[in-house]
Amino acid sequence: MSNEHSSVLLEEVLQAFEGVELKTFFEGTLGAGGHAKAILSAHPEIESYLACDRDPNAHRIAKEVLAPFGKKVELIRGSYSELNRFLDEREIESIDGYFIDIGVSSMQIDKAERGFSFRFEGPLDMRMDPTADLTAAIIVNEYSQKELERIFWEYGEERQSRRAAEAIVKMRKNRRIETTTELIEVVKPVLHWGKMHPATLIFQALRIAVNDELGELEKGIDAAIKRLSPGGRMAVISFHSLEDRIAKHRLKDVEFKKKSGEGCLKIITKKPICPSPEECRINPRARSAKLRVAEKVC
Ligand SMILES: C[S@@+](CC[C@H](N)C(=O)[O-])C[C@H]1O[C@@H](n2cnc3c(N)ncnc32)[C@H](O)[C@@H]1O
Repeated sequence: MSNEHSSVLLEEVLQAFEGVELKTFFEGTLGAGGHAKAILSAHPEIESYLACDRDPNAHRIAKEVLAPFGKKVELIRGSYSELNRFLDEREIESIDGYFIDIGVSSMQIDKAERGFSFRFEGPLDMRMDPTADLTAAIIVNEYSQKELERIFWEYGEERQSRRAAEAIVKMRKNRRIETTTELIEVVKPVLHWGKMHPATLIFQALRIAVNDELGELEKGIDAAIKRLSPGGRMAVISFHSLEDRIAKHRLKDVEFKKKSGEGCLKIITKKPICPSPEECRINPRARSAKLRVAEKVC
């Protein structure tokens, strides 16, 4: 199992901040620090780089990667939706750059014991923050059938959400479902076999629910818009349509309000930027990535 994580759309992210004077930068999803290293190298003017992640393992890895940048970098353990609190605590009024690259890292998905992947036997955990209360096992074993169905439908867009929820509730009358393999065995017979592993969407849905990923994204984008300084830029990489839809509408709404004097955002990427075929060939996990960039204009 490796700690390697290829940073997606790296050149495109650098281009998003090209020509912007970045004194204070907030990155919400530090991971292995690949984007952070590239941004810090391209912008020697950065005085303060606040690098946040929920996962202490990410900090352990990124700390080494970012050591050459010394005291400019501050690692923050927590959720990026708490941007306002992080800035208030440090008496920082505004930031010149904001970046999130949401979802799980390769380090998380490739570790069987984190329970993120249907490819490995592991506990039904899926927490990005290992100290958080909610695990996938709690959702699978304790949520009502209706709630399970909603999660599979809303966060996985799984067409067999009702049948999957029914199968889980039926099985749990006999025993708890504790591992990834046990869950797959329960839902597999009622799901479609296509190009993807049949449990792909069920796992995606559980992961999103455990980590409140869509709620984080909404709160994170709103806070970023509020705290960007005029001329500051924000870049958001998402990995599936649910996330991209939120990013697109959140940014558009604010841009639209600009006309009535309420918002001050200009969308730089009219269409999202996607990885080149070459990047997808080298890093198949980049396939579904989409980058959206916006600028605060007043
Ligand atoms: C795709 S990886 C980021 C990779 C990073 N850009 C790099 O170059 O290595 C996503 C990271 O974001 C973290 N993460 C996801 N949602 C988060 C949230 N709401 N708050 C803080 N960290 C989050 C995950 O723990 C994971 O380490």
